[in-house]
Amino acid sequence: MAVPPEYIEDLRHRIPLSEVIGKRVKLIRKGRRFIGLCPFHSEKTPSFSVVDDDGFYHCFGCGVHGDAISFLRETDGLSFMEAVTRLAEMAGIPVPHGTPQDPAKLQQRKTILDILETTARFFQEALRKDEGEAAARYIRNRGLAAETVNTYRLGYAPRSGLRAALAARGFSDADMLAAGVIRKSDRDGSLFDYFRDRVMFPIESQQGKVIAFGARALGDAQPKYLNSGEGPTFSKKMVLYGLVQAREGLRRKLPLVVSEGYMDVIAIQRSGTAAAVAPLGTALTEEQIVLLWKLHDEPILCFDGDSAGTRAHLRALLRILPLLTPGKSARLAIMPEGKDPDDVLRESGNDGFLKYLAVARSLIDSLWVSVASQHDLRQPESRARFWQEIRGQVRLIGNNQVRSAYGDEIESRIAAMRTAGRQQASSPLFRPVSVRRPRAGMINRHRVVLALCLAHPQLISGIYEQLLRMESGDAGLESLKKAAIDAVISDPDLDVAALKHHLSTKGFKDQVLGLSGDEMRARLGCDPASLSSLDASRQLEELVNLVSGKSGVFSDTTQTLKSFRPAGR
Ligand code: UTP
Ligand code: MN
Repeated sequence: MAVPPEYIEDLRHRIPLSEVIGKRVKLIRKGRRFIGLCPFHSEKTPSFSVVDDDGFYHCFGCGVHGDAISFLRETDGLSFMEAVTRLAEMAGIPVPHGTPQDPAKLQQRKTILDILETTARFFQEALRKDEGEAAARYIRNRGLAAETVNTYRLGYAPRSGLRAALAARGFSDADMLAAGVIRKSDRDGSLFDYFRDRVMFPIESQQGKVIAFGARALGDAQPKYLNSGEGPTFSKKMVLYGLVQAREGLRRKLPLVVSEGYMDVIAIQRSGTAAAVAPLGTALTEEQIVLLWKLHDEPILCFDGDSAGTRAHLRALLRILPLLTPGKSARLAIMPEGKDPDDVLRESGNDGFLKYLAVARSLIDSLWVSVASQHDLRQPESRARFWQEIRGQVRLIGNNQVRSAYGDEIESRIAAMRTAGRQQASSPLFRPVSVRRPRAGMINRHRVVLALCLAHPQLISGIYEQLLRMESGDAGLESLKKAAIDAVISDPDLDVAALKHHLSTKGFKDQVLGLSGDEMRARLGCDPASLSSLDASRQLEELVNLVSGKSGVFSDTTQTLKSFRPAGR
């Protein structure tokens, strides 16, 4: 049932937020705000701030933000109505009419959470016993250390024994059934443990309470993964696996990766390259997307590079588009065909995986490329169809400002495509369109590109073809650029200092200094060396596209050309 906004507003005024939060977190007053240790991530110095006047809390460490209602929902696992009710009780005002405040329901919910927690411990212990030997070996073989097993509370579900253990602690069969840890046989009505002989992945709520399980078969048993069914404490579409563990990495400003599987989440987190979460065996839901944006402005979605992966990422894009708001976006990283992040990390190490993250496509490029890939753009009528379709998709964006920004961008890409079509009635089809811009501006862009390359030489090898293609018209810059590329190609491990030294010995000392100085800081808004590899690579990608006049069309020639191949070839 709907609670009128005025009622919520009234609640906000009646109970200071610091009072609600103060029950959980020790708060110290600092002027008009209170500060304390953030309950949403572990920290030693307080970065959690509560302001009564505006009714919001904010953590400068992990970025959580919300009001009294979201606080109760997230720390106590209450539903919206439960949180409203709790606040109304605190304020001593009547709860809006018709509130479901069934004490029996609340009690059952609590019992179920108890059962799930006890079950998680039971599985953790079983993993350490003899019966868990094969599971422990499996986990070791997948490269997981004891620390990771603890962090994610991995366990082993033996073939039987859980029901008896729970009964011994006084839990009833009815509650175990409701918790989804036992099932009733259709055949003879007998009760059995639902998860048997599997590696167990507890699924936690945002507050770190176990609310469900994912369970992987040890061998080839089917299904490979078995998940808890929906229940009073668990709604699959609301949950992201690994969220609690991801907070630590987010606090350290790591990128946030969304992968498809439990094992990927664990492998990514463990690698230290990124924070990671996953939906539970389904496409991302709207609820999960909104949740992701609470964690990070621009999560990176990882997809398998096969055709199922391509469909999956178009589906994800179409789900995200309507929800976009200013400042929130996503990027898409495409893994090699048939590989997931866990495979990539194992086969190519952290650097290999980071390369895929670094070239993750922006949302708009992904949209453009994946819609384009469904049309044979050599035919004028298919081109027109493509434009119609992509314009239609932009119209789905709910937020006015984002929609008009996307509209502008798409129109300018379409205009560039039309120019390209006119200029090159015959093949080669998609030669970069040259966009005329003021000459001085152009040279400066080239200078910024080079400055970024010098500060992040590891990025050069990925884009050297484009670098070579972009002509600045300035002989000095051109020879510096070629020298840098040559150096990196002959020694891919060259670091910043070695590259600069090498260039100095080749007579580029002054130019290198010029590109590292204050002028660059001014142009870029920061020192190029202070950018993370990911940010530098984004900047670089954008600039290279701009400079080579491709921004109107495509960001990635190889991918793009691939996407033009008519189906079946
Ligand atoms: P995958 O089959 O790609 O498995 O399913 P995976 O995560 O790579 O697992 P490993 O590496 O073989 O152990 C991806 C995700 O889809 C869901 C799970 O969430 C899984 O992690 N899934 C898969 C299921 O829910 N049920 C299944 O039978 C299979
Ligand atoms: Mn896998």
